[in-house]
Order: sequence, then C-alpha cells, then structure tokens
Amino acid sequence: MPRIIIYTLLILTLLAILPPVVIAQVRSKPGPNPPINLIQDMDLQAKFKAQSKNDLFADDRSQRVQVAGTVARGEANLDEHLNKGVAGGQWVTTTPATLPMTRELLERGQGRFNIYCSPCHGYSGMGNGTVNQRALELVANADGPVNGTVWVAAKSLHDATVTIQPIGQLFNTVTNGVRNMAGYQSQIPVADRWAIVAYVKALQRSQDAKLADVPADKRGGL
Ligand code: HEC
Repeated sequence: MPRIIIYTLLILTLLAILPPVVIAQVRSKPGPNPPINLIQDMDLQAKFKAQSKNDLFADDRSQRVQVAGTVARGEANLDEHLNKGVAGGQWVTTTPATLPMTRELLERGQGRFNIYCSPCHGYSGMGNGTVNQRALELVANADGPVNGTVWVAAKSLHDATVTIQPIGQLFNTVTNGVRNMAGYQSQIPVADRWAIVAYVKALQRSQDAKLADVPADKRGGL
C-alpha cells in the first residue's frame, strides 16, 4: 500500500477521534451556557410557572383555587357512621358494619393505642402516660407557667364521664380532639381510629367487668 494512503488514513482516524474528545471534555465540567438540547421532549413550551401572573383572570393569578365544594374522587365520605361516628343525629354505639368488632380489630387497636395514646393516657388508659407524668413533674417544680404554657392532665379513660360515652363519641374525640386534646384525623386513618376506640372500650371493660362477662365455667364456683 502506498505510504500516502497509510498517512491519510492515520490522519483521518485522529481527526475522527477529535469531536468525541471535545464533547467529552465540555460535558465533564460545568459551563455558563444552557446545554444544547437536541431532543426537545416538550422541554420548552409556553406555560405559566408557579406563583406567576396571568392577566386573563381578574385576580391576576395563574394558579387557580379549587371551585368551592370540590370533592376529590373517593373522598365524599358520605357514610356518617364511618366518618363521624353518628347515625340519625345520635352517637353510634357500634363500630361501622365494615369494621366488625373482632379480635383482629382489637389487636390492631391495641397497637395503635400504644403508639398514639399511651404517651399521655398510659398503656392501661389510667391517664398516667410518661409524657403526662413528666409534664406534671415539670409544672409542679416550676414557679409559674413552664415555657409560657400550662399542662392539662390527660384524662383517665376509666373516668365515669368517659365510660358512659358511646363509641361514636370516643371516635369523635380521637378524630376532632376535645378541649385541650388535639384531634388525630390527619395522622390516623379512619379504620385505625375505629380500631383504637374499640380497644378503649375493651380497656374500660377490663377495669369494670361484671361477673356475667366471665364464661360460666371460668367463674371458679362464684
Ligand atoms: C398529648 C397528650 C394526649 C394524647 C397523645 C392523647 N390524649 Fe386524649 N386527652 C388528653 C388530654 C389533656 C385530655 C383532657 C382534655 C381536657 O380535659 O381539656 C384528653 C382527653 C381524652 C378523652 C376524654 C374526652 C372527654 O370527653 O372528656 C378521651 C376519650 C381521650 N382523650 C382519648 C384519647 C385517645 C383514644 C388517644 C389516642 C388516639 C388520645 N386520647 C391521645 C391528652 C392526650
């Protein structure tokens, strides 16, 4: 093969390597210019960015607020028993039909109660949870309000004013809170709130059981 051809091929090969080397070099370090965007994929299009102005609307806002009364699909929550603990304007006395009182429900409730309620109300619901005890201790040892606040003791769930409450009212307390206690609607899903109040009922029964609650063959002759 003539030398001229060999040299030409050599030079062409070196030249062919150049563009990828330059591209790799440019890509490897940050530069002031935006990248060259060969495949647009709708990257650039007319649109309003968040919080920007739009003269089309009287209030000049490009972001529109929801039409009043909008309900997200599946969130109409029309079942009053399930979502509010009421039926016919009265507190319900049973769990919703979809959440029958089973051992499974109570065990779920026990787990959730121990996580969400026991810090204040205690594992047995006596109102002696560790957070409550600590707060009472801090308040007792302080001359005035601690950090500008006072502490209302968590109520015993065995208090007669609580044990007479229908389960629907307990559900409402957990959902929306009561006086100084905050509601748990946003943290605890609705089924778990029912599991918790079912467990609260079981806790109350455990401290206030009647002889008739014990199976006849387990009464030890009483
Ligand atoms: C941060 C502490 C705290 C936690 C956690 C807490 N509570 Fe309470 N709870 C209170 C306090 C305080 C009161 C008394 C409020 C008052 O009297 O102003 C109360 C009151 C109650 C009452 C009595 C309502 C009435 O009608 O008198 C019930 C029932 C109750 N809580 C259930 C629960 C359940 C169930 C949970 C768990 C989902 C829970 N609480 C979690 C602090 C707490």
